[in-house]
Amino acid sequence: MRIGVPAETHPHERRVALVPDGVTKLKAAGCDILVERGAGASAFFPDAAYEAAGATIVATAAEALGADLVLKVQRPSAVEVGQLREGAALISFLAPATSGEVLDALAARKVTAFAMELVPRTTKAQSMDALSSQATIAGYKAVLVGADAMGRILPMLTTAAGTLAPAKVFVVGAGVAGLQAIATARRLGGIVSAFDVRPVVREQVQSLGASFVELAVEGEGEGGYAKELAEDQQQRVVAAVCGHAQGQDLVITTAQIPGRPAPRLITADAVRAMKPGSVIVDLAGESGGNCELTRFGETVTVDGVSIISPVNLPAGVPFHSSQMYGRNVLTFVTHLLQDGALQVDLADPITSPMCVTHAGELRTGKAA
Ligand code: NAI
Repeated sequence: MRIGVPAETHPHERRVALVPDGVTKLKAAGCDILVERGAGASAFFPDAAYEAAGATIVATAAEALGADLVLKVQRPSAVEVGQLREGAALISFLAPATSGEVLDALAARKVTAFAMELVPRTTKAQSMDALSSQATIAGYKAVLVGADAMGRILPMLTTAAGTLAPAKVFVVGAGVAGLQAIATARRLGGIVSAFDVRPVVREQVQSLGASFVELAVEGEGEGGYAKELAEDQQQRVVAAVCGHAQGQDLVITTAQIPGRPAPRLITADAVRAMKPGSVIVDLAGESGGNCELTRFGETVTVDGVSIISPVNLPAGVPFHSSQMYGRNVLTFVTHLLQDGALQVDLADPITSPMCVTHAGELRTGKAA
């Protein structure tokens, strides 16, 4: 079986879907790997490293996209879909909820497509969980982005020129990204607090050395995710989050509810009441933002407070985000492989929910 790894074409995407270590493992499993020239360059994986691992470097995207199985990071463009072979398989982030046209095109080409957003969050599939691996990188990077934009440093310093107080960091939403943000802000010397509507995360927050903002809400829904809160509870949460945000130097917001717009937690008035020079990094910008003033992909400054809404933070740490994503993809490919060929078992509890098109049909939403 030939596995193709094209260079990513999405603007600012620097990740690659398979790193040389994965090539070695798939070669050992009996596959031939075709890597487009320069596909790993922006993630600091040179062609020579892929060749040394046993890949064949191909000169054009068409050659990589023409393989039996294509591995990508971003969903393919219309041009790329047109270059996939009829009946081939594709593993990629596909944003299935908002990619109707792309999925229709994939189905029309009889491509068997798997969406990496749809890895089930079960213990068995944990090593394939690309949302988690990339959220880990995003949480880390968010703190660095925020730290870079602040007019102060994070750690306490006692120097001959005086003592500098440590920065106060507030993390809203303590899921995968939030917990990594807490750990990173702590390592940089900030005094960290956090809030989440799932009380179960209190201990995880505290074990990272942060304090938990206490508020009696029960926001845990299905599958360990948050659910949408009743109006009165939501108002209490907003009041508590806005109240606690006063006096903070850096606020990182990560609150999301699957399939819903991000909850609005920081009002414009609360931003105006923050200290000048403080920074909000809103990781929920793409789904509407946790702050009323967030504009996705932009930095807004109001009364000296910057609200930063980054796009694709994992692409800004391309070496490690590719290493982790590549491992997620490799584990899923290995799950599908039998005797060097793909076996698509649509009754399998991991394969089934991830498979969005097969044999010319859309499968979105079909359970195992
Ligand atoms: P996410 O990106 O959907 O949400 C981020 C966080 O925002 C969550 O912790 C959520 O509770 C919080 N949130 C939602 N509404 C909020 C509000 N109004 N105020 C404050 N916080 C709010 O979630 P993520 O990070 O993808 O994962 C959430 C959980 O899913 C994990 O903590 C874990 O329990 C579970 N999970 C399980 C995995 C597995 O078993 N393999 C892998 C990854 C996650």
